[in-house]
Amino acid sequence: MTNGVDLNQEALIAGNDPGGMLKALWNLPEQCEEAERIAQAIDVNFTATEIKNVMVTGLGGSAIGGDLLRVYAGDKAAVPVIVNRDYTLPAFVDASTLLFAVSYSGNTEETLSAYAQAKEKGAKIIVLTTGGKLGQLAEADGYPVIKVPGGISPRAATGYLLIPTIVIMAKIGLLPDAGDEIKDLTGHLRVLREHLKPAVPVEQNLAKQLATKFYNRLPVIWGVSGTTEVVAQRWKGQINENAKAPAYWAVLPELNHNEIVGFEKPENVLKQLEVVILRDRADHPRVQKRIEISKTIIKDAVSGVTEVYSSGNSTLARTFSLTYTGDYTSVYLATLYGIDPTPVKMIDFLKQKLAED
Ligand code: F6R
Repeated sequence: MTNGVDLNQEALIAGNDPGGMLKALWNLPEQCEEAERIAQAIDVNFTATEIKNVMVTGLGGSAIGGDLLRVYAGDKAAVPVIVNRDYTLPAFVDASTLLFAVSYSGNTEETLSAYAQAKEKGAKIIVLTTGGKLGQLAEADGYPVIKVPGGISPRAATGYLLIPTIVIMAKIGLLPDAGDEIKDLTGHLRVLREHLKPAVPVEQNLAKQLATKFYNRLPVIWGVSGTTEVVAQRWKGQINENAKAPAYWAVLPELNHNEIVGFEKPENVLKQLEVVILRDRADHPRVQKRIEISKTIIKDAVSGVTEVYSSGNSTLARTFSLTYTGDYTSVYLATLYGIDPTPVKMIDFLKQKLAED
């Protein structure tokens, strides 16, 4: 029982989620399968030899898929994947760039601006969206449009916004075929959701346990370069947007060269930090050693340190196992705070204010 809220009361969790965030989470395996089907039907008229770099341009929930792609492709693709979260594009973007312009709504002004620049630069553009202005422009301009279903929050559409980029890269030979891995991923997500769903009591539900730890604390999520780095960022974003609470993230080994020094003062603030370390069997052995040492450095200064291990076989399954756990955790944290996870009033407010110009 936290804040008088009992996470074993399923009806209470449902009552706190009028926007249906939990339903969208539950449907993630089916979403990934549908995303694969949609992307397979897209025709691309260029080959791997024409591509020197891949860029994903987008913001927020539409950009995190790009980061997941960057890490996924890191040890598989012969070309770099770069994520751009801006109105403008770097100077190197040209006709040898495969550019995914990703906006779930299709109306994000930074992405529309980057799209216009990409067009000017002659990049090989593929648009990923539910429609909006971006969908209309791309159709009129004759670029391939991967149109995914609307009706959920962009941050709940990670399957729709990541899987097609992998499928397209594989289609043109920039990545190995991912069909088996996507099957492994969706099978594993189906198992995981049975452990994370609201009907599973706190005692057996890792996400509910983590939400309880985060309640009235400041979550700090540590990931590892090349494996869980983006998942740490994702946990932070999901806590922000779903639970409407602050959270921070950092990555090893880099944090061993700065952040780790900052656990001395102010002691009362440090005691509010609840640290989660995301671990994966592919973490570099020296980083695993670093984690062990780092834990001993911070453990007495902070409120708590918890390690969460990925599960599953393939890279995608292991990455998503941690993402999924963080997604559910953020929704249960919203329940504890009595907050509807779906609305993001501050993002909407900013977009409206900017649109007034
Ligand atoms: C809302 C969310 C936001 C949006 C972002 C960009 O769920 O996650 O981060 O993703 O404001 O909007 P779209 O995705 O429509 O381009």
